[in-house]
Amino acid sequence: MELSGNPSSLHPNHQQNGHNVNVTSKKYSDRGGLNPSSTQSSGTEIRAGNLLHNHSVSPSLPSNSILIRTLATPINPADINQIQGVYPSKPPFSSLLGTPTPSAVGGNEGCFEVVSIGSSVKGLQKGDWVIMRSTGFGTWRTHALATADDVLKIENKEGLTPLQVGTVSVNPCTAYRMLKDFIPLEPGKDWFIQNGANSGVGRAAIQLGKQWNLNSINVIRERPSASETESLKQELLDLGATKVITDGELQSKGFSSQIKEWTASTKGDLKLGLNCVGGPPTLAMTKTLSQGGHLVSYGAMSKQPLSLPTGLLIFKDLHFSGFWVSRWSDQHPEEKRRTVEDILQMTREGKFKDIPVKELRWDWGTEEAVLKEAVQGTLEGFRDGKGVLMYGDT
Ligand SMILES: NC(=O)c1ccc[n+]([C@@H]2O[C@H](COP(=O)([O-])OP(=O)(O)OC[C@H]3O[C@@H](n4cnc5c(N)ncnc54)[C@H](OP(=O)(O)O)[C@@H]3O)[C@@H](O)[C@H]2O)c1
Repeated sequence: MELSGNPSSLHPNHQQNGHNVNVTSKKYSDRGGLNPSSTQSSGTEIRAGNLLHNHSVSPSLPSNSILIRTLATPINPADINQIQGVYPSKPPFSSLLGTPTPSAVGGNEGCFEVVSIGSSVKGLQKGDWVIMRSTGFGTWRTHALATADDVLKIENKEGLTPLQVGTVSVNPCTAYRMLKDFIPLEPGKDWFIQNGANSGVGRAAIQLGKQWNLNSINVIRERPSASETESLKQELLDLGATKVITDGELQSKGFSSQIKEWTASTKGDLKLGLNCVGGPPTLAMTKTLSQGGHLVSYGAMSKQPLSLPTGLLIFKDLHFSGFWVSRWSDQHPEEKRRTVEDILQMTREGKFKDIPVKELRWDWGTEEAVLKEAVQGTLEGFRDGKGVLMYGDT
């Protein structure tokens, strides 16, 4: 998919009135672009115009280039925020994609197969699987011309699926680094608490927590019926959560003594909070943290600001940080490689399960309306699974 039109339309705070997002596919062509003539009416709806875009890629490669074919690309909340123009990074706009006005391709991660390599490229061969080294490449396209430096090779694709590889670099890496890099947690004793626990990041944190013997309290939103809430709780417990609670329970009077009982039972502390929601429920979550604890914010799904009593900073000595995997990946390329390999090894061993997904197959004949529909509504709550574009005969 490509975002085309005025590049400034992707700038944060830009008034939305003209996003084009295109999508393209063809043998050795890029069917690729959501043309940013989409306009926001509600902050979640995307109305994309000129969605589907075809153009040719020459089969003769520059010597330092690789031609890659896309196998799987998720539709993450940040991808949509980028199209909405409310995300701090934007993909590069180009007039090389054949659109009437400069365009950019949406999507920030995915799994790709190397189709051919230029004569001077070392360390890659036809058939290898690669992921993007950084976000911002524009992954919602059937084929792309890249350089070897743009990609990280998956050293051993044995036992892995394109879906697992295509969704490893954003959500699981975010959960991994937030659990490791902010405050030491003593295995078996200490606890972390997180909201949005059924999200991709939340499910990754639950599973990593289980691997590393960290106790977790996982906050979900109540579902429309009690049985649906119970079923989601059970799903997360089966994944490795220690406790699962609703945000209603978290905010109920006296619930803090329940949490104290839990932490006392392991002789540990509730040292780390992971927040992707914001607003009043996050304040309730923050108040459960132990003296000197750390809240790491990485998303704002409720679009509500986080307002905090100053006493939490002065007397309770809580620490507050943000985490952005794009910045971390750019600053720590080797660490990223190790983190990805570690998660993929857990995946091969069956210790790290796939997120629930809604697969959308993208073949040569896939209609524009189908792709547009796939992107619609991906920021809405209570979804059964993450939308993932799975590329077939392209
Ligand atoms: N900073 C970073 O580097 C980084 C990296 C990865 C992800 N993120 C952020 O992490 C968040 C989760 O991403 P994801 O891909 O893991 O999500 P996802 O799998 O698409 O799931 C979305 C999550 O958001 C929740 N949600 C949706 N609308 C909400 C609302 N109005 N109030 C409260 N919760 C709401 C959903 O809960 P329900 O099921 O109850 O609707 C679900 O838990 C996003 O904000 C994303 O941008 C940040």
